[in-house]
Amino acid sequence: MYYPEEVVEQVRERNDIVDVIGGYVQLKKKGSSYFGLCPFHNEKSPSFSVSATKQMYYCFGCGKGGNVISFIMEYENFGFVDALKLLAERASVQLPEAEYSEEAKKKADEKSILLEIQKKAALYFYYQLKSENGSIGYEYLRKRGLSEQTIKSFGLGFANPYPNDLYCYLKQQGYSDFILKESGLVKIEEQGAYDKFWNRVMFPIMDINNRVIGFGGRVMGEGTPKYLNSPETKIFDKSRNLYGMNVARRSRKPYILICEGYMDVISMHQAGFTNVVASLGTAFTLQHGLLIKRYTKEVILAYDSDGAGVNAALRAIPILRNAGLSIRVLNLKPYKDPDEFIKAEGAEAFQQRIDQAENSFLFEIRILKAQYSMQDPEQKTRFFNEVAKKLLEFSDEMERNNYMEAVARQYDISYDILKRRVLYYGSRGEWDKMEEKPRSGIQLRKEKDAGVNQAQKLLLTWIGEEPQIFDRVSSVLKPEDFTEGIYRNVAEALFQQGKNHAINPAELLNSFMQDDQAQEVAAIFHARLPMHPTKEEKNRAFRETVLRIKKNSLEKVSKKVQQMSELQEIIKEKKDLEGLNISLD
Ligand code: UTP
Ligand code: MN
Repeated sequence: MYYPEEVVEQVRERNDIVDVIGGYVQLKKKGSSYFGLCPFHNEKSPSFSVSATKQMYYCFGCGKGGNVISFIMEYENFGFVDALKLLAERASVQLPEAEYSEEAKKKADEKSILLEIQKKAALYFYYQLKSENGSIGYEYLRKRGLSEQTIKSFGLGFANPYPNDLYCYLKQQGYSDFILKESGLVKIEEQGAYDKFWNRVMFPIMDINNRVIGFGGRVMGEGTPKYLNSPETKIFDKSRNLYGMNVARRSRKPYILICEGYMDVISMHQAGFTNVVASLGTAFTLQHGLLIKRYTKEVILAYDSDGAGVNAALRAIPILRNAGLSIRVLNLKPYKDPDEFIKAEGAEAFQQRIDQAENSFLFEIRILKAQYSMQDPEQKTRFFNEVAKKLLEFSDEMERNNYMEAVARQYDISYDILKRRVLYYGSRGEWDKMEEKPRSGIQLRKEKDAGVNQAQKLLLTWIGEEPQIFDRVSSVLKPEDFTEGIYRNVAEALFQQGKNHAINPAELLNSFMQDDQAQEVAAIFHARLPMHPTKEEKNRAFRETVLRIKKNSLEKVSKKVQQMSELQEIIKEKKDLEGLNISLD
């Protein structure tokens, strides 16, 4: 169901971007814009800007940008249609009824259909678990100590040991093979279609808005793989979703627990710890960290106590730290994982372990130490050298100092000696940075391209901010003068608006949203306009920018010409450019 342009624009217009983003990000007014900490990357000083006049946002740190609709898409990980629905509701705009004719269905937002399919599959699996066929699955879960209530609230299910019953069910519901393949739930091969999951208890994976986006399935008995997970699809991005996050975000505890497995999350839950998530059989990413950071400042790692778990923790710690989280590490010994711990010792003992969880830096140092024999002076020296280098990870002096003190105390080394070693490595680091690297030919070429792109970007931004210059620009430049690709598309749309005297970059973004290009386009409208202390300088910058774009375009055309006469025409145009008299007033 595609919405008419006017409807999209109406929804956008009725949702003031400062109001909407202000609900997610703390904003402060600074000049004509609002600034805050970017929700899409980790930063300590605000480079995320929201402009009330432009009705756009842009992060000068990470380059994310767009209008109010693309913000919701990015922040909530919504498709275009869902973002539009949310904003329409917020501003009480009545969206036209969705029509589901065959034709409309084909065109409809693919993400919504994929979500619909996952939801139907989850209900199907749940129903199977409760039916006679699923009794092995149900018994299995009950034997692992899950209550009826837990099974229900996690929507656990069962995939039958038949090769394609889910496929047949979904097919009956009218979905095409194409979209079913996209859903990751079936495999379509020459011999026929097969379910991806069979003979497994099923764990539906939900996004933060409680929508099923994929599944994990545990084999019954011994079999490999023990857990099978949905592949990544248009709606299932493993690097930005966490199992249990939909519940943990609402737990309002000062920290979130991170563990390895589905069963760990569920056991902890049942024991009353609802602030717990697991990564989905993949490594921890910065995006995971940033997602958690939206809801809490502290995490506690409750990974398995075996070597693999320790290594996973060592990999996750720097990533979580980069996301700006403080981290502690929980000790589960002598048990293997949280599930086993809680079964054996109960919730109270688990809470004690939480309270005793170790600071992540001290955890890292402790693990590091195991690699050295502290009886051997040489190895001991190497160990402290490594510790000194690691201490440099703290850029805040006071924080670094506190850690130096803690290490000195715990590892029996003089604070002063440790500090001097840290300073030594710190100053050496600065030298390394100052080494200049020579530039290659390819690099210089890239810089030239970047210069032309920059000029195009600058001019498009400029027109967006000062629409009155459009007529002068369009007397020299046509959209074709902008390099092909996204610059061309944006120029075409902007020139169209210019002709209608209705320049509006935020509106223009609407049409780039469904191809996920909103961000790139927003960046084009956020070139940094150079400061122009005088009018003459501003005029000169304007003229140079226009000329640069035109020259580049003529050069490109001249490379393609076949006829002498055309070439002569271009040479003449180039010459005329020299005398071009264009200015802002
Ligand atoms: P574990 O093997 O530690 O699972 O894997 P577990 O929770 O102890 O399993 P049970 O108790 O025997 O049922 C932890 C997580 O790693 C992922 C899954 O997300 C699992 O929950 N995993 C594990 C896979 O993706 N594939 C596998 O084959 C195994
Ligand atoms: Mn387990």
